[in-house]
Amino acid sequence: MNVSHHGQSGIQPGKIAVVGLGHVGLPTAVGFSSLGWDVIGADEDPAKVEPIKSGRAPFFEPGLDELLQKNLASGKFCPTSKVEEAIRAASVIFICVGTPQREDGTADLTQVEAIARTIGRNLNGLWQVSGKNLGVLGLAFKPKTDDIREAPSLKIISTLLKEGAQLRIHDPCAVPAVQAALQPQAGKITFCASPYDAARGAEALLLLTEWDEYRLLDLGCLRGLMQDTVIIDGRNIFDPDEMRNAGFTYVGMGRKRVAPRMEKMAEVFQFRPAAMHRPNVEVDLNA
Ligand SMILES: NC(=O)c1ccc[n+]([C@@H]2O[C@H](COP(=O)([O-])OP(=O)(O)OC[C@H]3O[C@@H](n4cnc5c(N)ncnc54)[C@H](O)[C@@H]3O)[C@@H](O)[C@H]2O)c1
Repeated sequence: MNVSHHGQSGIQPGKIAVVGLGHVGLPTAVGFSSLGWDVIGADEDPAKVEPIKSGRAPFFEPGLDELLQKNLASGKFCPTSKVEEAIRAASVIFICVGTPQREDGTADLTQVEAIARTIGRNLNGLWQVSGKNLGVLGLAFKPKTDDIREAPSLKIISTLLKEGAQLRIHDPCAVPAVQAALQPQAGKITFCASPYDAARGAEALLLLTEWDEYRLLDLGCLRGLMQDTVIIDGRNIFDPDEMRNAGFTYVGMGRKRVAPRMEKMAEVFQFRPAAMHRPNVEVDLNA
């Protein structure tokens, strides 16, 4: 079986992706699928993927061909050269691209950097913000102050502007401080008199400061003003179920609840799940 046997792209959500099907990646991917995980093995080199699809590893490793054939047949392992699709479908990504040695003995990290950029581009599309209208609620580092010195908002706003987003921003107090700090970029920002005004036409709304007035927002009204449904609650002030019921695609931070399979994997591999980008998975960033 190969990936084309599943759905439109052949790739289903909620899987492990192993990126790079070389000497490390292919045995890793086949090993995980033998343990019962659904694994997508992705390599950018179709000349490597094609023989793998037909059950032949492009290098010798004792027992690998047999295991590969078994897991292709069971459908637990799907090789593909569609790397971006594999990344988008995965809950956990293992990076197994090469790190060849340079002449001076140091590791050449070009492949790692390239795949990191690819992963960044494919984080659920949330961070593909070019040309998007985004609403930002809150600028101050905490409520009841106009202090922005320690606030992440400046960095976030600068990054979003650099990526080509258009911003509508509200803060009850800190607007003058931000205007002063971001003077050269001020033309690309609309400062708004109310949070509802900031949400008007927004494809996503980012909450960066937990002002009380944001807790009391009329969610139906807010949703009605927005063009799309994404709300990124950087301060975790909203109830996820309430937000979903109000029609939002809710992305929360700092929560303990993760998908059970992710939880199990985190326990087994002692790593922090790398799926914070998935809107339906809430991960404790402070763990
Ligand atoms: N081979 C070993 O015995 C061994 C042992 C321990 C650690 N490692 C480490 O494991 C890592 C992988 O090594 P390897 O021997 O498997 O390398 P490899 O060269 O055999 O395989 C790397 C694979 O990654 C693919 N690739 C490169 N860029 C990609 C991209 N952007 N998207 C998708 N695929 C991409 C390549 O086509 C290649 O098939 C390296 O960091 C290496 O140092 C290797």
